[in-house]
Amino acid sequence: MSKIRVALAGVGNASSGLIQGIVYYTVNSTNEGLANQVLGGYTLADIEIVAAFDVDSRKVGKDISEAIIAPPNSFPSVVPVPNIGVKVDKGPTLDGISAPASESVEISTAADADVAKILKETNADMLVCLTPTGGVKACEFYAQASLDAGIGFVNCSPTPIASNRNWSIKFQKAGLPLVGDDLQSQAGGTVVHKGLLEVLANQGVNLMDTYQLDVSGGLEGLNTLDDERRIYKRRVKETSISRAVPYGINVTSGTTDYLEFLGNRRIGHFWIKGTTFMGQPLTIDIRMESLDGSNGGAVLVEVIRAMKIALKRVTAGPVISISAHCFKYPPVFTSRTEGQRWFTEFIKGERTN
Ligand SMILES: NC(=O)c1ccc[n+]([C@@H]2O[C@H](COP(=O)([O-])OP(=O)(O)OC[C@H]3O[C@@H](n4cnc5c(N)ncnc54)[C@H](O)[C@@H]3O)[C@@H](O)[C@H]2O)c1
Repeated sequence: MSKIRVALAGVGNASSGLIQGIVYYTVNSTNEGLANQVLGGYTLADIEIVAAFDVDSRKVGKDISEAIIAPPNSFPSVVPVPNIGVKVDKGPTLDGISAPASESVEISTAADADVAKILKETNADMLVCLTPTGGVKACEFYAQASLDAGIGFVNCSPTPIASNRNWSIKFQKAGLPLVGDDLQSQAGGTVVHKGLLEVLANQGVNLMDTYQLDVSGGLEGLNTLDDERRIYKRRVKETSISRAVPYGINVTSGTTDYLEFLGNRRIGHFWIKGTTFMGQPLTIDIRMESLDGSNGGAVLVEVIRAMKIALKRVTAGPVISISAHCFKYPPVFTSRTEGQRWFTEFIKGERTN
């Protein structure tokens, strides 16, 4: 099996979770915490980072192993990452940094790299876009660079790329796979909320109102203090959660504040109201605490291996199954359970898309 050659746009907390996870599961022969130790014949040791782009002077020019633990990243150092031999290049900043996040990011004065050229020279299979929420131009720039380089594109940000018709057609015409949008964490607020609602609705509970509000201390939390970006992310999350129930209910979901002392932790509060048999009331109140970096890394190792399979099968345009299972705002929505089934069928070759 050939290695999976991955380029990263945005060396933030999710990239740190991904890279540390690759090292962790390569060094330790355990499957604890993993959805799949082997997926389509690939283990995590088959994932190779071949290029990376960021804008922060504390990351640009550094080996990725150093960049992932440079501030303002706050996902902890779980495992020592040896020198990878790949330096972070300077990507164009565009709208990547929101006004609130500009207090924490130090923009590098290095010249912008020729991203498409580097993607070609490094023989990357795919570019994983991990630029901040609301950085629409930044995300679109990396999608275009992937097309120019003739490689697959994974959009983890909420910018509509896989769910956007024009971008989908561009990738389809180029014969390249595309997945997204907005990564769905392994044990994050959205997937847990959807799972709870799905089970309750299937049990015949009449669901009425629900919220899931969180606070976080990561850079992404600071970024979403920007009103426009917060509202944008909320819409994506609320749409994703609403689709878990086959009828209309009141859903509110999103980040409410940034608390630096939380580091990379995210604390979510879930509340669900409905009625059960004979109209009897049901209220559920849950508190959940998790880390964004590892939560993202866990799903990225699934997406990257599944994308390699899509590339090998020359899947063109948005890959419906990978997107439905691993992202909050896919081109085609389905239930959480069916999304998982589509994903498994795609990996086994029982589905073409
Ligand atoms: N659990 C998760 O990690 C998770 C879950 C769902 C969605 N996402 C999405 O993934 C993305 C990354 O999340 P994160 O927590 O790693 O964010 P982060 O804020 O920790 O990292 C973002 C990185 O992008 C860099 N950046 C900004 N503009 C750039 C540009 N123009 N070019 C290259 N780099 C640029 C920043 O300097 C920073 O290093 C976000 O869009 C987020 O919404 C992550």
